[in-house]
Amino acid sequence: MPAADEVRVRVVATSVNKGDWYGLAGTPFVARFEGGFLRPKSDFVPGHDVAGIVEHVGADVKALSVGDAVYGEVLGAFGERVCAPERDLAPVPSNLDFEGAATLPVAGLTALQGLADSGGLHPGQRVLINGASGGVGTLAVQIAKALGGEVTGVCSTANVERARALGADHVVDYTREDFTDTEQRYDVIFDLAGSKPFRRVRGLLTPTGTLVSSSSNIGYLIRTAVASLFSRRVKVLVAKPGGTQLRRLTKLVEAGEVRPVIETRYAFEDLPEALGRQGRGHARGKSVVAVTAA
Ligand SMILES: NC(=O)c1ccc[n+]([C@@H]2O[C@H](COP(=O)([O-])OP(=O)(O)OC[C@H]3O[C@@H](n4cnc5c(N)ncnc54)[C@H](OP(=O)(O)O)[C@@H]3O)[C@@H](O)[C@H]2O)c1
Repeated sequence: MPAADEVRVRVVATSVNKGDWYGLAGTPFVARFEGGFLRPKSDFVPGHDVAGIVEHVGADVKALSVGDAVYGEVLGAFGERVCAPERDLAPVPSNLDFEGAATLPVAGLTALQGLADSGGLHPGQRVLINGASGGVGTLAVQIAKALGGEVTGVCSTANVERARALGADHVVDYTREDFTDTEQRYDVIFDLAGSKPFRRVRGLLTPTGTLVSSSSNIGYLIRTAVASLFSRRVKVLVAKPGGTQLRRLTKLVEAGEVRPVIETRYAFEDLPEALGRQGRGHARGKSVVAVTAA
């Protein structure tokens, strides 16, 4: 049963994230924080992206009612039901179904906060997104355009056209070109891949530019974390969940500036396959999983 400030949500759809894969694989070791360090906790239910229907409200809940369609980032999203404080949820955007909404919480908030908050991206600025074709990257390209940036996306050959279709002004195919081998300088670099040496990536910044890293490449993460202690122009992103943050995303979606990019739809019993696809590191947009009937 939900606590007084919580609602219970029947999960209609969820989506998989890189973090879910790390948590289940137990590597890197810090990824065991949620699920148990030495062995999985007995009550651990993985998954973070929820879209579903409120079916029970706690005594102190004010804004949500039974039957409301909501979405949010809540641990336990791979279960049929999950309880969450109402402040962690927001109504599903009016122009999305549950599957579309389930693609947004983790990836969308990472992209939005990485570019708008940590990166401080302003209209007319040049932004480079390394890893433009994955779950976060496909939303980041759209959000960067919505914020008025001139966008360069980095991805592999198969994803070049998609990155352009999502709005990227320039696309670098990393299988043919090294994006660090250029005279071009960027006001914001959003690095989701951590595929090139930190020093070379940082060297692409304008004198007032900002490098935001959301890469889980451990070596790159350590380099950026250390550099961030000495420079305000290098930041390691830890995205914040919550209803207030989700409503910022909802605005962009309802204005038609951001749309979900769904690679594959899976039935619940195929969730392991969805996670395996994510774990191989070449997801194209998001994989959604139907959990219960809408
Ligand atoms: N800080 C946070 O709060 C937070 C939240 C969510 C995610 N993350 C992290 O952000 C990163 C991106 O997440 P995601 O969900 O977008 O991952 P994803 O869906 O697995 O996408 C990974 C993308 O990286 C691309 N890629 C692989 N090798 C590359 C290379 N050498 N150069 C450029 N791109 C390359 C792949 O594109 P190709 O197939 O074209 O190679 C793929 O599209 C992950 O490290 C994840 O752990 C952090």
